[in-house]
Amino acid sequence: MEHRAFGKTGETFAILSFGAQRMVDEHGCSEEEALEMVNYALDKGMRYFDTAWIYSFGQSETRLGKVARHRREEMWIATKVWSRDRDEARGQLEESLSRLQTDYVNEWRMHNVWSMEELDKLTARGGALEAAIRARDEGMVRHISISGHTDPRVQIEALERFPFDSVLCACSILDHFIFSFAEEFLPVANAKGVAVVGMKVMGLGALAHLYDKALRYTLGLPISTAIVGMDNMGQLQDNIAVAESFQPLTDEERLQLFREVLPMVSPETLPWKAEKWGQKVGWNKR
Ligand SMILES: NC(=O)c1ccc[n+]([C@@H]2O[C@H](COP(=O)([O-])OP(=O)(O)OC[C@H]3O[C@@H](n4cnc5c(N)ncnc54)[C@H](OP(=O)(O)O)[C@@H]3O)[C@@H](O)[C@H]2O)c1
Repeated sequence: MEHRAFGKTGETFAILSFGAQRMVDEHGCSEEEALEMVNYALDKGMRYFDTAWIYSFGQSETRLGKVARHRREEMWIATKVWSRDRDEARGQLEESLSRLQTDYVNEWRMHNVWSMEELDKLTARGGALEAAIRARDEGMVRHISISGHTDPRVQIEALERFPFDSVLCACSILDHFIFSFAEEFLPVANAKGVAVVGMKVMGLGALAHLYDKALRYTLGLPISTAIVGMDNMGQLQDNIAVAESFQPLTDEERLQLFREVLPMVSPETLPWKAEKWGQKVGWNKR
């Protein structure tokens, strides 16, 4: 599988990475299958795993931890903090580390920063960013990251305020059409050498019937790697097959795909964008 540089970190990762949100009971995935998938992904050379403190009350982190216990050195673990408050964030990090059965995470992400107000909270005095800097100084966190899938202007502003090592953002073909991270954010991140991790590749499952083309579209963007949420082994194997034989969409294929998905571009299909697109209020879904 093709590998790409991860910003300025000196690391490289396979273009396909593992979104661990869905390998939980809530999504019909048993612990046995989840562990089998994580081990299988590692055996196939996928090292990058994305999870979060808030996913399924910790079950996603706990399951990753059951593999990390044995294979920590092979894994790059990115987890996220939900709180915007320094002290609460610190508590969430300690819980994450305990569930992940490790004493450090490779990346700690400010989770789902959807508005300038949210960004203000976490970058304010006493905000979660202070907890991240302290934890990095102490070695509990190796890199500091931020995620967002609503409005690229927020992540552009975030990079002005702090030298985040990476950004996780929405890069599906559906996202191409409205508040586009591909159009607006990627040129900024690439110019700064910030690693970008793509998500929403399958449009939360709305693009399942087009999974191969949806993945090829996102992998054709100038990102470091893409995390796909998977809840069974069949999806993992299918996505690995696409990534292993990855070729960017041709111009004709891309145009055809744009035509096919354009009718799907609506607030109902893209709940991660602002609900009232014109007014930029409302929202939102993790
Ligand atoms: N703000 C944030 O930072 C944030 C927010 C959300 C997610 N995430 C992360 O991003 C990861 C990816 O999640 P996402 O929200 O971007 O969703 P996504 O990857 O766009 O969609 C995941 C869904 O796509 C379907 N799928 C995946 N591979 C498939 C295949 N080969 N064939 C058919 N269907 C397939 C599955 O749906 P079915 O199971 O329904 O079939 C799967 O549950 C998560 O695991 C999580 O780690 C981060």
